[in-house]
Amino acid sequence: MSHPDIERVLFTEDEIKARVKELGQQLSRDYAGREVFCIGVLKGCFVFMADLLRSMDVKCELDFMVVSSYGSGTTTSGAVRITKDLGRSIEGKDVLVIEDILDSGVTLHYLRGFLEQRNPASFRICTLFDKPARRKADIAADYVGFLCPDEFIVGYGLDYDEKYRNLPYIGVLKPEIYT
Ligand code: IMP
Ligand code: MG
Repeated sequence: MSHPDIERVLFTEDEIKARVKELGQQLSRDYAGREVFCIGVLKGCFVFMADLLRSMDVKCELDFMVVSSYGSGTTTSGAVRITKDLGRSIEGKDVLVIEDILDSGVTLHYLRGFLEQRNPASFRICTLFDKPARRKADIAADYVGFLCPDEFIVGYGLDYDEKYRNLPYIGVLKPEIYT
């Protein structure tokens, strides 16, 4: 049963589960024998990151950042602000940033510049969804779960106006909800 505000389901719970498991296996191979410093970009990453890390067989540290570029609308304001920084140093570490969705790319472009100044040994990005059609900043993810059509999606951690994060699938909202 889908939520009454959802027009249609784009990715089911089972599809997401299977893909996240594959990503975890790929990361386990790529980082074999190393230790990964996983940085989750809150709040959207929280469901994905919890599932991804449990499917990764690698030693890891974990921390979160809060970065905001969005108001309550569905398009980026272009301004990025870091409202919660890391609690520890990433110098010399293999950093993996974990994001829910790469859209205009403004957020991750800014974050990459910000974190690379701290001299990590390596810097990669893993995003569950990528909307390449909307890219404005020069940035690509190293690991992508799904390519996403140019639609505003919610669920599995992603919100509209802080709601729908708890849906176990990814859906498209009915247009009347956000217009
Ligand atoms: P960007 O800076 O435009 O790449 O935006 C990245 C952030 O915008 C993501 O981490 C999400 O929080 C939010 N975002 C972008 N597209 C969507 C969407 O379709 N649904 C929900 N949040 C989105
Ligand atoms: Mg958001």
